[in-house]
Amino acid sequence: MQYHREEMGKSTAFAPGKIILTGEYAVVFGHPGIAVPAPLGMKIHYEENLGSPNLAIEWKGIRGGEEWMEYLQDVIERYQDHPTMFLGTLTIENDLPLGKGMGSSTSLVIAVARCLLGEHCKEKALEIEDAVNPGHSGIDFAVVWNAQPVFFQKGHPPELFTLPTDLLKGALLIDTGSPNETTPELVSWIEEQQDKLQSALKTIGKCTKQLKEGGDLRNIIRDHHRAQVSLDVVPLNVQDLIEAIENAGGSAKIIGAGGRTGGGGMVLAVHDDRETLQDAIPDEFPTFDL
Ligand code: MEV
Repeated sequence: MQYHREEMGKSTAFAPGKIILTGEYAVVFGHPGIAVPAPLGMKIHYEENLGSPNLAIEWKGIRGGEEWMEYLQDVIERYQDHPTMFLGTLTIENDLPLGKGMGSSTSLVIAVARCLLGEHCKEKALEIEDAVNPGHSGIDFAVVWNAQPVFFQKGHPPELFTLPTDLLKGALLIDTGSPNETTPELVSWIEEQQDKLQSALKTIGKCTKQLKEGGDLRNIIRDHHRAQVSLDVVPLNVQDLIEAIENAGGSAKIIGAGGRTGGGGMVLAVHDDRETLQDAIPDEFPTFDL
């Protein structure tokens, strides 16, 4: 279910989060990337009450700090310039980790658009995404909107495809904490130094091509992680964590923008043997099954 109108004045919509397998930052500069929808996401309910003086917000499930409420208010206000005024209650039910590389900001933009405007809201939702996530490549929007694996290259329509169902069997997501920088800040910082980062960006694009051609995911993730380290968006403690996973025979990479200080967001880890993988991860890092 992506959008459902229950009765006059009541609607529900869903948008998933995302996991970028390959392509972070490189997609901003025209290299290809591959992303899959996350099994988690944001469900939003709207109950209209025209007698209400405003739109009350209820946020259930994973909540963020004050900045997430402000972000939501900002997104809603941008939809309020639609001919209809939205009055009543908007309820967010969220099980997506916030600000950790899983596409939460885009998921919120799309779920709110679907809930308030109905299913034909793509153009407006993209306009809001451009405004609230400046400098984005479009990969997050493409995978969250379509809720299907996408091969993405800026300037081309996203190619939807199916990946082998067992590709991420036994994989784990590891929470390394919230980065201190926002994704638009990191993208603009990478843009400033793009000339000296060409080789790492090219490697990331090459990883996408190898994955599309059926290359070995474990090797691809190792190369991709090294390129992300060269971009300087993998905090030192996350590099240590990934080294421990590699020493145990697995491989891992940050999904999403990563960070320079603070945490690196979510890490995707793959290994043939789940127990060995779990043993390689220090207890301080919470893990989630995929
Ligand atoms: C963020 O999920 C992915 C980045 O490549 C930025 C973007 O493509 O918009 C870091």
